Amino acid sequence: MKKVITYGTYDLFHEGHYKLLKRAKELGDYLIVGVTTEHFDEARGKVNLVDPIMTRIENVRKTGFADEIIIEDHEGQKVEDIQKYGVDVFTVGSDWTGHFDYLRQFCDVVYLERTPDISSTEIRDGRYKIVRIGIIGTGRIAPRFLSEAKYVSGINVDCAYNPEEDSAKAFHDKTDLPVYTRDFDKFLDMVDAVYIASPNETHTMYAKEALEAGKHVLCEKPLAFTKLESQDLYKLAEEKGKVLMEAVKTAYCPGFTQLINVAESGKIGDIVDVEACFTRLANPDSREVVDANFGGSFLEFGAYVMLPMIKLFGTDYKNVEIESILNEAGNDVYTKVHVLYDSAMATGKVGVGVKSEGNLVISGTKGYILAPSPWWLTKYFEVRHEDVNDIEVYKPDFIGDGIRYEISEFTQKINGVKDRVYKLTAEEAIAMAGITEMFMKNRVDLQRKKREENAN
Ligand code: CTP
Repeated sequence: MKKVITYGTYDLFHEGHYKLLKRAKELGDYLIVGVTTEHFDEARGKVNLVDPIMTRIENVRKTGFADEIIIEDHEGQKVEDIQKYGVDVFTVGSDWTGHFDYLRQFCDVVYLERTPDISSTEIRDGRYKIVRIGIIGTGRIAPRFLSEAKYVSGINVDCAYNPEEDSAKAFHDKTDLPVYTRDFDKFLDMVDAVYIASPNETHTMYAKEALEAGKHVLCEKPLAFTKLESQDLYKLAEEKGKVLMEAVKTAYCPGFTQLINVAESGKIGDIVDVEACFTRLANPDSREVVDANFGGSFLEFGAYVMLPMIKLFGTDYKNVEIESILNEAGNDVYTKVHVLYDSAMATGKVGVGVKSEGNLVISGTKGYILAPSPWWLTKYFEVRHEDVNDIEVYKPDFIGDGIRYEISEFTQKINGVKDRVYKLTAEEAIAMAGITEMFMKNRVDLQRKKREENAN
């Protein structure tokens, strides 16, 4: 019996897929079809599949050509499968010509002519209007956003806005994008959605203006400095029927979702404590270090350390205590936040002028999870128990610098593909804004105390 194997994503099943499977079957007597998991596709750069894996498998099954359907979820699996199933022919479409020649040492490799003029990408782009996005603020993060957005299909960065002419010009010179410096309304007219990466104190204002103009908003953290402001913005988004997402990139990383799921699976028992730390020694002249009103450690990294607490223990915290060490400028170079829940507690440590071990530790009654730096991109974590040799290692897939997942989520939400919000809900974001509000108040109090001490 001649066994043939082929692999694919089969998103939005189309004629090209059908014809390929038909011809693949004709190459032998028994056809095995490997359908790729979403994670594996993400690792290969396809970040916005529409159909869930069960639908994609079902569509392959319905063709009647596959004798067996398997799931492809890791690099190097093709060789394993060929050996395991005793495969005689490996086949894929001609868009892959040459790519799989290395498999010739195991079996025949056949590249079948690709059906012209059709692809899942094209259908995705056609079904959903390309989202035109404009960037507000052209500082450090904007170029990263631009390069990561290229990996997400269905979205196009069209223009930018920055009232500071120097920064606008520098960005335009680097990227060739039109940058508006004065006419914010004209900028908004050009786009369907905005990504806000301007200085912290302008986030709320821009988000509000963009939502009011009927634009979807992806806003860098913090979206707001107070709970009420945050609530109002989410309410406005709902009224306008627009997507509002806070760009806490960790929330959208596949590995972080996996970590939270593992923590909640019961493996470590009841979860009692979360300790999260994120520090980076920033340039002493940077806004984070110098701007005592809207810079500082907490506004920079607080969202990251609050995220695992809020995800695991919820939004109903009982008590919050915040301690900060201020620099000469009165800015918090280091902040610790303690959050108390009914039967759990959490600590977050953040620094722009103090360096510490960037761990995330989730402690439970049966064991703990240790995610070392950079846990906020969640590429690796361990589940540990009393027995020091009992360690389960997780290495979630991760590509790019972390932003493409949130861009993909944003695009899919705009297109209504992912209607259910669970990665970072409005309630979770609002609860985080509540802690940010306490931090802001605390820092002003500390600054006042410091001034009074200096005066005496
Ligand atoms: N295929 C084909 N003809 C097409 C499209 C795909 O023969 N017009 C083949 C591919 O070469 C591959 C299989 O179908 O062997 C599954 O391809 P997949 O990557 O799932 O489909 P694409 O439409 O190419 O997806 P995308 O646009 O996301 O790359």
